[in-house]
Amino acid sequence: MTVTHNDNQTIIGRAEINDIDAILAIPSANPNDVEHVVKNEADTIFTWDYTLQRPALRKLYEKAKDGQWNATTDMPWETDVDIEKTVSEDQALIGVGLDPAMYIGTPLEKWDDKQWLEFGVESRNWMLSQFMHGEQGALICTAKIVETVPWYDAKLYASTQVMDEARHVEVFARYLEEKLGGEYQVNVHLRSLLDDIVHDSRWDMTYLGMQVMVEGLALAAFGFMHQLTGEPLLKKILRYVMSDEARHVAFGVISLKECYDQMTDLEMKDRQEFAFEAGIRMRDRLMQQEVWERMGVDVRQVMPLILEDPTRQVFQSMLFSKIVPNCKKLGLLDRNDKWLRRRFEEMGVIQFEDWADTADDYLKFDLAAELAPAG
Ligand SMILES: [Fe+2]
Ligand SMILES: [Fe+2]
Repeated sequence: MTVTHNDNQTIIGRAEINDIDAILAIPSANPNDVEHVVKNEADTIFTWDYTLQRPALRKLYEKAKDGQWNATTDMPWETDVDIEKTVSEDQALIGVGLDPAMYIGTPLEKWDDKQWLEFGVESRNWMLSQFMHGEQGALICTAKIVETVPWYDAKLYASTQVMDEARHVEVFARYLEEKLGGEYQVNVHLRSLLDDIVHDSRWDMTYLGMQVMVEGLALAAFGFMHQLTGEPLLKKILRYVMSDEARHVAFGVISLKECYDQMTDLEMKDRQEFAFEAGIRMRDRLMQQEVWERMGVDVRQVMPLILEDPTRQVFQSMLFSKIVPNCKKLGLLDRNDKWLRRRFEEMGVIQFEDWADTADDYLKFDLAAELAPAG
């Protein structure tokens, strides 16, 4: 089977993955809207089989019950956060995340340190805001999984994830409100991906979109920021959230492995296309068009340069370091004549295929081990 540009048109709405006009054509929501309605087409399924069928999921469920923490009492909310100081320290360590030499001839060429710092602060706010919106997406998706998954063990586990995600929305919303004084609206590409996941009628697509793709990216992004930041409150928030997220990704991989091992090529093709679409939406989101707008820069002028920026490509591709090995473990890369492998090659992320997958990663992130008294 060959990949044609027609495939792209059908799956992501444009023939060329780097078609800037098409990327920017998706309209942003009205920032004054406080509600966004999506039709959920999936069936709600009861099960009358309460026996233990899937010990791996039950083990995760037990871990999840022990791993509950309290966002109100476990976080040092009294921490005084000087966001300019923390961002400038990060920039001193790793730069601004872009190669300024790429932007000759654009307004960025004239930016001084103050403007790069302002960009860094906006980017941090934007990133944490998208984490928050993504967490709400996870809250809604896991509630959907409780209803739609036919397996009892999975319903039990998913219910714990609903509570985890509520905490995650809570911590990011509180951090943005109390420490950064405001937030960005949901990025248009993230919203479009969440819409697709919530709308889909097939229960496994919720897992694929949320647990494998969105949470796989989140786990990598949280890990990166956790390592980087010296801001103690954010560091602790990220550490606690990661201990939950690693379980969530494991839940997705364990469940889908069973499901996908039994699927026909035709059924797998749909899943490969969905994974590709989700990957593209997340990549488009990472160009943070709302930040450029707020900085008064013409997005159309900088976006082609961002796509070519080697510094940015390194950061961006790292965010796929959990997704690609998990897709490989699920058999998504190579079915149908390596369809998804070729797409990930085109996106420049295939190099992660042999990195550790996340089926057992959650043990590494376990808080209980870290918090237990030594000796
Ligand atoms: Fe989460
Ligand atoms: Fe999660």
